Amino acid sequence: MGMRKGIILAGGKGTRLYPMTTTINKQLQSVYDKPMVYYPLSTLMNCSIKDVLIITTQEQCGLFVDMFENGSRLGMNIEYAIQDRPRGISEAFIIGEDFLDGDPATLVLGDNVFYGDDFYKDLMYISKENENCVFGYRVSNPSDYGVVQFEKPTDSYERNVKVISIEEKPEEPKSNYAVPGLYFYDSSVVRRAKALEPSERGELEITDLN
Ligand code: TTP
Repeated sequence: MGMRKGIILAGGKGTRLYPMTTTINKQLQSVYDKPMVYYPLSTLMNCSIKDVLIITTQEQCGLFVDMFENGSRLGMNIEYAIQDRPRGISEAFIIGEDFLDGDPATLVLGDNVFYGDDFYKDLMYISKENENCVFGYRVSNPSDYGVVQFEKPTDSYERNVKVISIEEKPEEPKSNYAVPGLYFYDSSVVRRAKALEPSERGELEITDLN
């Protein structure tokens, strides 16, 4: 087994941000002083990940290549792949099979921004393990998300809590914790992603993989 690798999934249509996203996709819009995709990239840097695959649409791919080239300017190795249609977040591992080449993977969504001092310290720790890890973020409308139920209820930031269930947009959520777009997997992830069946909305669901 080699080093953990990172994937940034930055495709999709971003319809909720129309008309901003009609010509330039969501992950290239600015957030404060940088294009949005810099934030998930720095999340992966904080995991000590050097090899990153950016997956985006055919139309947008050239813009990402113009921005990061091969990544060497940032001390990274950045590669690119196309997802022509949003067929689900888990498809990232099927598209990324050759890139991952049997290594453990961290997936971050191109529009997810993570912040927190302790959180960044923990990323290094989690990244070294060949384990599976999701996060929970407390929300008031859990039914709109994948919802994670932990073994013990927690009110503050805690690590190493076991997961009991993860359900996609449940009518009766078992907790107030939504699963945000940062996922750590061991080297079995490609095999598991390939075994998934598309959901009713025709996507390979990340909740099913989790
Ligand atoms: P969504 O929020 O489902 O995508 P979106 O923001 O493009 O959707 P909407 O049209 O509703 O505004 O997905 C979250 C992120 O994951 C977003 O950055 C796009 C990305 N994504 C892909 O790149 N491919 C996929 O197949 C899916 C499902 C998401």
